[in-house]
Amino acid sequence: MPAKHKSVELLKLNNGFSIPNVALGTWKASPDDCYNAVMTALKTGYRHIDTARIYRNEVSVGRAVNDFLRQSDVKREDLFITTKISPYEFQDPENAILASLERLQLDYVDLYLMHHCVAEVTGEGITPRDENGYRKHISPEVFSYVDAYRLLQKLINKGYTRSIGICNINVPKIQRLLETKDLIPPAVVQCEIHPYLPQHELVEFCKANNVVVEAYSPLGSTGAPLLHDPVIVEVAQKYGVTPACVALSWAVARGTVVLPKSTTAERIKDNISLIELDDSDVSLIGNIYKRMTKRYLESKWKINVYESDADFRPPT
Ligand SMILES: NC(=O)c1ccc[n+]([C@@H]2O[C@H](COP(=O)([O-])OP(=O)(O)OC[C@H]3O[C@@H](n4cnc5c(N)ncnc54)[C@H](OP(=O)(O)O)[C@@H]3O)[C@@H](O)[C@H]2O)c1
Repeated sequence: MPAKHKSVELLKLNNGFSIPNVALGTWKASPDDCYNAVMTALKTGYRHIDTARIYRNEVSVGRAVNDFLRQSDVKREDLFITTKISPYEFQDPENAILASLERLQLDYVDLYLMHHCVAEVTGEGITPRDENGYRKHISPEVFSYVDAYRLLQKLINKGYTRSIGICNINVPKIQRLLETKDLIPPAVVQCEIHPYLPQHELVEFCKANNVVVEAYSPLGSTGAPLLHDPVIVEVAQKYGVTPACVALSWAVARGTVVLPKSTTAERIKDNISLIELDDSDVSLIGNIYKRMTKRYLESKWKINVYESDADFRPPT
């Protein structure tokens, strides 16, 4: 069956800005690989790059972005650059974003995301851990993700970021943000989403509440294990495309932004060349989780940061 090519789309955010629905992910990309990957991506047509403080490659992302802007006719406002505040920085977001902007050599980012829904202790490095390897969090009773978000939103008026949002969040916690009167709604949430963890409820809830969802680890993270799933392989054969193309096309067909990471030039090119899937295939892939459910990424916290709705302090 001949595949119908699908171009990258700009999705409208709830604050009027737009976001390209395919981005290059950069987690685990070493500084040199990251520079080359971002440059290859931008030359291939990507306009959206996803990095984070914790990836330790903001300098490489910034160098590639600025070199590309100097060498091309593309303007800064045509690009969408995301970085993330690490939980150990949650109590001082202004210093955190200024440090990220310095590393990126940019005046602003398009999206600044809280990397988790729980704060960590400060002064003990990027991922403070206890003697058993657990990340050292601050009790939500003392400083919750809502408190952090309240500080984060001030960065918009200061011009350091155009939009804000949160990663690794669930429906009750998004609801809490939407219901808290002095908070602006998040423009974006970024979560692990793929055929083994489709998060149908979260995707539907965000759609209904005008919050754009970004799907991270869309190939199942390191080594792309999802690409061996028999249904993904079968659908790929039907359209004559790669399994990666199917997994990523499924993500955009659901209206999510997708963030494939690669430092391999051929894959970077493949991952932006998406197709239109029939509704029946979108639904077939959306039901794979009934046979196989898996969350690939779980940081070692002493509280359940992914599923629980208990780790926020109720409003006083
Ligand atoms: N907010 C968060 O907490 C969070 C957590 C995780 C990820 N993220 C973001 O989401 C991005 C993507 O997630 P991820 O890095 O976990 O994993 P992913 O994109 O699901 O998979 C990356 C792996 O797939 C391989 N790959 C990429 N394209 C391929 C292709 N066409 N064919 C075969 N293999 C392919 C890559 O190898 P090569 O690189 O060797 O090509 C790499 O091993 C991250 O980089 C990051 O930007 C955010």
